[in-house]
Amino acid sequence: MTVLIKGGTVISPTGSTAADVLVDGERIVAVLEPGSTALGADLAASAERVIDATGKYVVPGGIDGHTHMQMPFGGTEASDTFETGTRAAAWGGTTTIVDFVVQRQGERVQETLAAWHAKAGGECAIDYGFHQIIGGVDDDSLKAMDELIEEGVTTFKLFMAYPGVFYSDDGQILRAMQTAASNGSMIMMHAENGTAIDVLVQQALARGETDPVYHGLTRPWQTEEEATHRAIMLARITGAPLYVVHMSAKQAVATLAAHRGEGLNVFGETCPQYLYLSLEKNLAAAGFEGAKWVCSTPLRAEAEGHQEELWKYLRTNDLQVVSTDHCPFCMKEQKELGIGDFSKIPNGIGSVEHRMDLLFQGVVDGRITKERWVELCSTTPARMFGMYGKKGIIAPGADADIVVYDPNGHTSIGLGKTHHMNMDYSAWEGYEIDGHVDTVLSRGTVVIDDNQYLGAKGHGQFIKRGLSQYLS
Ligand code: URP
Ligand code: ZN
Ligand code: ZN
Repeated sequence: MTVLIKGGTVISPTGSTAADVLVDGERIVAVLEPGSTALGADLAASAERVIDATGKYVVPGGIDGHTHMQMPFGGTEASDTFETGTRAAAWGGTTTIVDFVVQRQGERVQETLAAWHAKAGGECAIDYGFHQIIGGVDDDSLKAMDELIEEGVTTFKLFMAYPGVFYSDDGQILRAMQTAASNGSMIMMHAENGTAIDVLVQQALARGETDPVYHGLTRPWQTEEEATHRAIMLARITGAPLYVVHMSAKQAVATLAAHRGEGLNVFGETCPQYLYLSLEKNLAAAGFEGAKWVCSTPLRAEAEGHQEELWKYLRTNDLQVVSTDHCPFCMKEQKELGIGDFSKIPNGIGSVEHRMDLLFQGVVDGRITKERWVELCSTTPARMFGMYGKKGIIAPGADADIVVYDPNGHTSIGLGKTHHMNMDYSAWEGYEIDGHVDTVLSRGTVVIDDNQYLGAKGHGQFIKRGLSQYLS
């Protein structure tokens, strides 16, 4: 099937240009200036399907580099399956996710990877890759890190939080970083001082402070900044590249920025919830309502100015990627596990469907350019996670993962029919976006068009990723 996307403005990090995009099968074969007689123009004239993109933006499909579909966590399991979660992603213009395989102490890493392949295989609406969580650093798991690179899993997440669950101590982190430094892979870090947080949590509960807001108050910014600094120091000793996930504290990003300024390969990710939501507005909502927004790192106080600073760091490239950390739980029977004890609320927010829209609102509001929008949501994640060329760009030879985005359209986010994630609430209810995902192609197949889902489970393929292209 040949598809011509005609009359739109093609956006890349380096600029925007009026061009027609020709797709043949699963790939982009030509990007043609209007009226061009260059190679591909003949084929374009006879395309089997023409999509009119007049007045619209044509952008590379979104890449969400941080999701947790059906992740076992917090005494329950994330409520989106690979099927429902990737379908919701497609609705929102995301055409690739990178999800996390979970390994805990005593489990064989390769077996956990096989289990995640079994869960995701044949289920996904869009393409997917895997990062590997190493929850038990030992000789076997360190050896497995070398082996997984051949399997296309080239990034490894460690946790400085959650003692007794995924936590690694500094010696374990150092050893994993030494391995990453030697095999060219990248360490992703959940940077929070978990042992200090656990003490603060126990003390708060002993004082009878049980509401959701105490989740945020027992994880003060210092616990994120201290852990970020420690992770950078360990990376510095070992020479390993470091990618700090879900950053929310401005002080932690300032530390990252300072070390980037010294030329270190340290990178940072933030998420839409840290840009728009806050401790006062959301986590401190009346009654148990705040549980909807319990995630770690926590939402930060607007009065302290974190949100504005994070937008600034997105502009200055001290933060390079916006992912969702999509880890949805329903209120009923899941978040409710923490009624009367905030520490039992499963940690996570669902946003996989809304990231492209929420960040586009940043363009409308003058916070970032439309080129930076594409860079943060697609091109840099592709490069960071070793997929660039195939993903993250509209160019001949790339996979035809394409979004036709209407900057004059409108999207209302809310409950029920207005979102497609497997959740009984929306963390984003009431958000109005001045833009709309009109058409989405995943490897040449139209999966969303005219507010209809046309995709199919099993269309999505596993992506064997290379090493981070930010390091070579
Ligand atoms: O609250 C969060 N972030 N849940 C998902 C697990 C993680 O730490 O990324
Ligand atoms: Zn984390
Ligand atoms: Zn996560």
